[in-house]
Amino acid sequence: MASIKSFFITIFLASRLASSSPVMAVPHRRNANVVTATNETNTVEPSVPVFPRKASTDAPYSVNEEALRGAIHIPSTFEYGSGSKTPVVLVPGTAVSSDITWANGFAKLLGQTDYADPVWLNIPGDSLGDIQITAEYVAYAINYIAGVSKDKKLGVVSWSQGGINTQWAFKYWPSTVEVVTDLIALAADFNGTVLAPLICSPLTGFLCTPAIIQQENGSNLITALRSNGGDSAFVPTTTFYSDSDEIVQPQNGTSASAYLLDGRSVGVTNNQVQTVCGDKNMVVLHEGALYNALAWGLIQDALTHDGPGQVSRLDVASLCNQESAPGIDGLAVEAAVAVSASTNILESEDKTLEEPAVASYAL
Ligand SMILES: *[C@@H]1O[C@H](CO)[C@@H](O)[C@H](O)[C@H]1NC(C)=O
Ligand SMILES: *[C@@H]1O[C@H](CO)[C@@H](O)[C@H](O)[C@H]1NC(C)=O
Ligand SMILES: *[C@@H]1O[C@H](CO)[C@@H](O)[C@H](O)[C@H]1NC(C)=O
Ligand SMILES: *[C@@H]1O[C@H](CO)[C@@H](O)[C@H](O)[C@H]1NC(C)=O
Repeated sequence: MASIKSFFITIFLASRLASSSPVMAVPHRRNANVVTATNETNTVEPSVPVFPRKASTDAPYSVNEEALRGAIHIPSTFEYGSGSKTPVVLVPGTAVSSDITWANGFAKLLGQTDYADPVWLNIPGDSLGDIQITAEYVAYAINYIAGVSKDKKLGVVSWSQGGINTQWAFKYWPSTVEVVTDLIALAADFNGTVLAPLICSPLTGFLCTPAIIQQENGSNLITALRSNGGDSAFVPTTTFYSDSDEIVQPQNGTSASAYLLDGRSVGVTNNQVQTVCGDKNMVVLHEGALYNALAWGLIQDALTHDGPGQVSRLDVASLCNQESAPGIDGLAVEAAVAVSASTNILESEDKTLEEPAVASYAL
């Protein structure tokens, strides 16, 4: 399968780079407390305190509020709920910052609309560390942005691991569910990926980080997430995924890792690009979800209607024929994400071959 082949090529290139760079060749115990703090100064206070918890049912944070708040990038154009726009929180995936993931892509397009007001998260350590910690940043950002936006409900757009982070936040910080109208999850791996174990093998362990091992299919984290209805949506949810994804597999039909159930009847649409476009040979890579025209159509549709995005409202034939969403240089996004991901994985000092323990609040 071509996608598996390109995955191996990526690993091959990564290991070539590794052998010529001063990275740790031997996995070592990670130090969970080492996080590079981002330091945005977001001085606006939310309408109600969202830290140390917004609701008594919320899980405790282990990260301090300054760091949680400092990871939220709020563009200077942000309206703080004063206009008619819906705030949108963009959540990145493993190994890539939001600046690279979103700034020249869907954040740019959302910022040009009259209905969406995007902010994004730059997770310390580029989401390579413990997913449970990364989810704290997402939970805090959702409640903080609602709190500084006149308690307007907001949308969340995630890529890859960002879907897990957000679903974990919804599950263990139930106050976040109250302020979110939509999750649009691009190329999510809610059931992990069968390709992650290839990175976290003894031979390739110098590439394995907590978040990568937690995204192995059947990991303790994935099992905990999916238990007790975590495999169902908490808010109206639109998924977009591709069976030619070279990072997340399986990504086909109802057993796709991105596929979410709707046990709470909140509204879910699962949109596999090959199925929607009626072209089973269509190739859309993992990064392709960051500029795909159909993905953009679904984001727009979800944010401008009640409930999840519906392809029945879209000009599918036209969207399926476009290389990229209008206004995005897809190839540039693709290249920037790929280069940044391999560099960040190699340079991460947070390497481990042992999955972090599942937090007691999730047991
Ligand atoms: C944090 O502050 C330093 C020094 O002011 C600055 O160089 C750096 O870009 C800041 N980092 C972030 C993520 O804002
Ligand atoms: C993960 O997927 C691989 C490949 O399909 C399979 O062999 C393995 O048993 C799976 N692991 C778990 C824990 O289910
Ligand atoms: C996905 O499933 C469809 C329908 O069962 C099948 O035709 C297609 O070959 C599958 N694609 C992959 C990549 O497995
Ligand atoms: C999720 O992954 C696990 C472990 O590989 C597998 O046993 C299970 O069937 C998958 N679930 C779905 C809904 O595909």
